[in-house]
Amino acid sequence: MSNINNYIAENKDRFLEELFDLLRIPSISADSAYNDDVARTAELVKQRLEEAGADKVEICPTGGHPMVYGEKMIDPNLPTVLVYGHYDVQPPDPIELWDNPPFEPIIKTTEAHPEGAIFARGACDDKGQMYMHVKAFEVMMKTDTLACNVKFMIEGEEEVGSENLEAFLHDNVEKLKADVIVISDTGIIANDTPSITVGLRGLSYLEIEVTGPNRDLHSGLYGGAVGNPINILSKMIASLTDEDNHITIPGFYDKVAVISSEERAEMAKAPVDDSNYIEPLELGAVEGEAGYSSLERVSIRPTLDVNGIWGGYTGEGAKTVLPSKAYAKISMRLVPHQESDEITELFTKHFQDIAPDSVKVKVTPHHGGTPYVTPTDFIGYQAAKKAIEASFGKTPIPVRSGGSIPIVALFEEVLGLKSVLMGFGLDSDAIHSPNEHYGVFNYVKGIETIPLFYKYFAELKR
Ligand code: BES
Ligand code: MN
Ligand code: MN
Repeated sequence: MSNINNYIAENKDRFLEELFDLLRIPSISADSAYNDDVARTAELVKQRLEEAGADKVEICPTGGHPMVYGEKMIDPNLPTVLVYGHYDVQPPDPIELWDNPPFEPIIKTTEAHPEGAIFARGACDDKGQMYMHVKAFEVMMKTDTLACNVKFMIEGEEEVGSENLEAFLHDNVEKLKADVIVISDTGIIANDTPSITVGLRGLSYLEIEVTGPNRDLHSGLYGGAVGNPINILSKMIASLTDEDNHITIPGFYDKVAVISSEERAEMAKAPVDDSNYIEPLELGAVEGEAGYSSLERVSIRPTLDVNGIWGGYTGEGAKTVLPSKAYAKISMRLVPHQESDEITELFTKHFQDIAPDSVKVKVTPHHGGTPYVTPTDFIGYQAAKKAIEASFGKTPIPVRSGGSIPIVALFEEVLGLKSVLMGFGLDSDAIHSPNEHYGVFNYVKGIETIPLFYKYFAELKR
């Protein structure tokens, strides 16, 4: 493997420069004002795949933002790795909290990244991690070490729920035929504590509109006699969890898989405790469901969070008003074997049930996703484990993550393929937040680890 590492060392600066080019385009999938930038990013990914040596590179329309596909089929007797990633990013807001402009990448050191980190929206989620695969592919092509056939599938709608991807999968089952899917869009515990993500939570995301009176009212003339939709929405939301932080929606926990005490004991060995939350986030204390550790609360247990709440007067100064409407966006993270559609239905019914007659409630579902668990005895996981052992010099710890990548469960359902979640980000990399960054160490380590994954996967598959 020394050839490979030499090639990476010699080309490291260019690998960073090329990533910077991608990071400079604001490919914000949620905001149609950026549609041209999203399209330009897809073009650049296509060009870079071609330059790295991929064949049949194309931009596939999906009905939404396009998917970039490319492949290198070297030998029908070798296994095929399907690489999934996304080139779209989250909006950078609140933009005033960035120390440097979000689409002008810059390298700075941090406590977790003494060797430097790339600061930009998408640096870690997911342009930096996706591009490691493109560069690892170049490395394997240039050093003549490509050990598997490879297909790339880089999408542009992950951050808005991958809603057009399911149809794309159904339409392209043959084209996407492979032996394993590998994804770098998750994290490790720390740079000296590698881990592999073996679980993703599912998701139900809803928007609520509560209407009281048919117009905004003077809060003196009407307040006291007319229900205030903001007061009422607040009470309704507060009632969704009890004093133990259990969710009160009837049936919500019915299908939640009970995790064995053996598995919980195994999880407790991960070097993560409450101080990992309290210190960096400057919290007074952690908070969550009674009877579970923080790590369990963000992985094996479902949650309900208000993502946004608004209504009434929020401008400068004071305006006395009893508003007509109140709104909230609510997400529930789900665990095996909860089903997104069913949870959305339970929520909607319950929310209608608890609404007083003084208001009307409208619940609109947004995107959802099914939870996913990677079995550790499958060879994709074993190959990732061996690859990380070789590149980090330590055995990775399997951990379930709290985040969601909704398409992963559909890969299994539609394509019959399991996914290996071999991501290299850190929780402290501030994905979705201001000052998102990705360690230069992590970027290079990823490029080193991926060829090892191909090598071990081909060996184990033989
Ligand atoms: N890459 C993240 C998910 C992630 C991050 C999983 C870190 C595990 C560890 C992905 O881009 C993401 O943000 N997913 C969204 C869901 C989507 C439907 C918007 C999420 O988890 O909120
Ligand atoms: Mn991502
Ligand atoms: Mn994301």
